Amino acid sequence: MGNLSCAATTMQLFLVFFLLSLLFSNSTAVDSINATQSLQPGSTLLSSGGTFELGFFTPPTTQNRYLGIWYKKISTCTVVWVANRAAPLNGSEGAVLRFIDGGRNLAVLAGAGDGNITWSTNLSGPAPIRPVAQLLETGNLVIRDGSSETFLWQSFDYPGDTFLPGMKYGIDFKLGLNRALTSWRTATDPAVGDYANTLDPSGVPQFLLTRRSSFIEFRSGSWNGKQFGGMINLKPNPIYTYEFVSNENEMFYRYQLINSSVVTRMVLTPEGNLQRFIWVERTGEWNLYLTAHTDNCDRFGLCGPNGICDIDNSPACACLTRFVPKFSEEWSAADWSNGCGREVALDCSSGEGFVKYSGIKLPDTRQSWYNGSMELRDCERKCRGNCSCTAYANLDVRNGGSGCILWFGDLVDIRQYDDNNGQDVYIRLAASEMDRYERSNGNKRVRIIVIPISVVAFILLLLCVVLRIRRRKKQLRIQASMPQSSEEESEDEEDEDEEEYDEEQSHEGRNRDLELPLFHFNAIADATNYFSINNKLGQGGYGPVYKGTLKNGQVIAVKRLSKKSRQGTREFKNEVACIAKLQHRNLVKLLGCCIQSVERMLIYEYMPNKSLNFFIFDRGQSALLDWSKRLHIINGIARGLLYLHQDSRLRIIHRDLKASNVLLDHEMNPKISDFGMARSFAGDESSANTTRIVGTYGYMSPEYAIDGLFSVKSDVFSFGVLVLEIISGRKNRGFSHTDHKLNLLGHAWMLLKEGRPDELVEECIRSTCHDMAVVDRIVHIGLLCVQQSPEDRPNMSNVVLMLSSSEIELAQPKEPGFFTERDILEASSSFSKHEYSSTNNKLSETIIDAR
Ligand SMILES: *[C@@H]1O[C@H](CO)[C@@H](O)[C@H](O)[C@H]1NC(C)=O
Ligand SMILES: *[C@@H]1O[C@H](CO)[C@@H](O)[C@H](O)[C@H]1NC(C)=O
Ligand SMILES: *[C@@H]1O[C@H](CO)[C@@H](O)[C@H](O)[C@H]1NC(C)=O
Ligand SMILES: *[C@@H]1O[C@H](CO)[C@@H](O)[C@H](O)[C@H]1NC(C)=O
Ligand SMILES: *[C@@H]1O[C@H](CO)[C@@H](O)[C@H](O)[C@H]1NC(C)=O
Ligand SMILES: *[C@@H]1O[C@H](CO)[C@@H](O)[C@H](O)[C@H]1NC(C)=O
Ligand SMILES: *[C@@H]1O[C@H](CO)[C@@H](O)[C@H](O)[C@H]1NC(C)=O
Repeated sequence: MGNLSCAATTMQLFLVFFLLSLLFSNSTAVDSINATQSLQPGSTLLSSGGTFELGFFTPPTTQNRYLGIWYKKISTCTVVWVANRAAPLNGSEGAVLRFIDGGRNLAVLAGAGDGNITWSTNLSGPAPIRPVAQLLETGNLVIRDGSSETFLWQSFDYPGDTFLPGMKYGIDFKLGLNRALTSWRTATDPAVGDYANTLDPSGVPQFLLTRRSSFIEFRSGSWNGKQFGGMINLKPNPIYTYEFVSNENEMFYRYQLINSSVVTRMVLTPEGNLQRFIWVERTGEWNLYLTAHTDNCDRFGLCGPNGICDIDNSPACACLTRFVPKFSEEWSAADWSNGCGREVALDCSSGEGFVKYSGIKLPDTRQSWYNGSMELRDCERKCRGNCSCTAYANLDVRNGGSGCILWFGDLVDIRQYDDNNGQDVYIRLAASEMDRYERSNGNKRVRIIVIPISVVAFILLLLCVVLRIRRRKKQLRIQASMPQSSEEESEDEEDEDEEEYDEEQSHEGRNRDLELPLFHFNAIADATNYFSINNKLGQGGYGPVYKGTLKNGQVIAVKRLSKKSRQGTREFKNEVACIAKLQHRNLVKLLGCCIQSVERMLIYEYMPNKSLNFFIFDRGQSALLDWSKRLHIINGIARGLLYLHQDSRLRIIHRDLKASNVLLDHEMNPKISDFGMARSFAGDESSANTTRIVGTYGYMSPEYAIDGLFSVKSDVFSFGVLVLEIISGRKNRGFSHTDHKLNLLGHAWMLLKEGRPDELVEECIRSTCHDMAVVDRIVHIGLLCVQQSPEDRPNMSNVVLMLSSSEIELAQPKEPGFFTERDILEASSSFSKHEYSSTNNKLSETIIDAR
């Protein structure tokens, strides 16, 4: 055994600290101990080739003693493994390494071998007959029985901060091991520090570098057959080869030296850097070879969900195509953490498509699904077929690509590389967005193909309808003669025609076409305390709204439609199905419905902060909504409305947008509610005429109030009114001013013309708006929306654009419609020309072609 003192004299770089000085050595160095031998401070084991040494050491400036393994051949003492990291021994007392438990375990004991056990291999099971602990030339300390090849235990399974050649870095499912690197606390304290780098097997496996086990700092990206997608500096090289092995038993990364005389190691430093060093004999120093994460874009999720990081851009973060920042103010202040959201939510319609991105570090794969043997075509089909799938890509990039990864939900931690380094990923877009994307890319080829296809599709559709009607007539005849049709038959029918099932079935919740839970009347009655007056939240146009709590604890809002609306079950279901398809973060979410004899109820998510009018028109509450919150609300309403107007599947005019129809969730995100008066209109038809005017004074556009003409532009008018109300905290209707007879719209217009639009801002929040240019802009946009002539008003996509980018120049608004109180009175007297009904209006107004 070699006798050695690991005395420290210098401290350099990260892990490099002490100089070993050889005092004297015995005749023969040994590499193992057996059951009767032991190792004390001063004696060591030396691996057979003399590369590694195991023994006790004391880091400089400390009094702690550890059992460790270090490089023997190099002049800078570099420890690669420590046994008793968590339990240092007292440096001025004795210590012993020996077998205990009759040879079952190797242990470090304090004192002269009779003290406490500070570290043990902790094995259970029968003790080996001839236990041997041997330090291998690879730096692996192993225990085996005699000369058996099987390792009962090995230090490579319990790595510290260092990843050595030949080590399996990753998971062994059979042994239940996940070999992770954990940093030292400091350069002289081997205790487990803040950082860990662990293979995460959820989804496509990838390494995650975490701080304090919760914050992800860096993600290696998944293995693409050649390398880890997010470690492009790991490339084939003359020093080592590397591989990633993944099968049902294990999943690991490993590298092997090409020339075994090269000394290299990978280490997770106390500062959280994952770095490879190569020993340079000539200089006597460790040379930094590579660092796993290098720049800002390597910081996990820097750009937030659905953001993309490109280090060559300034700022580095951007939103994915046709996504917009969730909070534009935060975003422009370089706080990208909340990322981006879709401008138009996905609804799983057939027109949805995928945008291809090349040269990408694929998104976080923790929530992903994968299959190694699928083709890209099938991968796309699979993604299309699952409504929650948001992106897909090849798993393996070799030989033109193979395998399939699917992502669900938000896409996190994407970065842009160049095409040589990154991979291709295909990200899903809503149908209308896809149209716009293709248009903006001048994709003419697609158009040319689309036209004939859509003609063919139309003819097919017509044929289907004709057949359908015939079949249905036949069916009705059959049903009339056979009162009880069989289960199977009706199930088959359900698949194709949502109108075929009967009311009995719907009570059992068997309703696949609705894709919406049907609640039982008793469940709703229970939840709302039998529609107790104490649970009543308010009275909407169609009946009372109750708050309720379901058995599972979920809080709901129940809209109980008044029995006066004698709408048929079928129409009601049709309508509910339609509303249910509208899913956007700025629309209140429909959870389900309840149909029982004459009862018709809609069940919505409950909004704890009630509605917008409760805040902006209330002296006590209005200060709670500061300028930035109001801006956020305006943006949200605009997006929600844009979604209603532009979603290609069901284009909807809300017709009753007002402060009390904008609900607020717990984070004060606005959600448009009450589609009761919404009216969808077929594809190109952008306006329609109605004899029944519904809506609310003060928000109605002139052409709608007077002539019954409604279009998306009438919603834009209401939106404009709402914007001005949100800013001013004043209601348009009933607005009065000491200086003039104008209403809020006229007042705002006058202020803008006189160059003092900021005076419109409600006094109690004026101090919270710091950028007057933004205030001017919002007032300006509000006034553009309330212009007299619908043609002059922008559409919602323009509004959203104008709100999100200050680059876009604004036109001068013309005179607003209805800008004096008198106008409104005149208009309201003209209502008598029409059947004005707000409360008795049949809900079927909403409907809608569900196609
Ligand atoms: C352990 O090794 C020593 C020295 O080689 C030998 O004398 C002793 O018998 C061995 N003990 C066992 C239990 O094999
Ligand atoms: C270490 O041991 C020495 C001598 O027994 C003792 O004086 C000292 O207090 C011990 N140090 C610690 C930290 O226990
Ligand atoms: C052994 O551990 C016990 C309890 O952890 C402690 O009280 C005792 O002082 C320790 N003995 C030695 C020799 O360190
Ligand atoms: C061994 O087990 C003990 C008690 O279960 C535990 O405190 C200790 O950390 C374990 N040691 C190792 C090296 O796993
Ligand atoms: C391995 O590296 C050493 C020193 O770097 C060199 O002398 C030797 O020729 C190399 N061996 C091979 C097979 O490349
Ligand atoms: C993976 O895809 C192949 C080919 O499509 C298929 O045969 C196999 O069953 C799939 N495996 C899983 C687990 O889905
Ligand atoms: C879509 O994928 C998710 C996640 O793999 C899965 O839970 C869900 O069942 C899938 N839905 C369909 C319709 O296949």
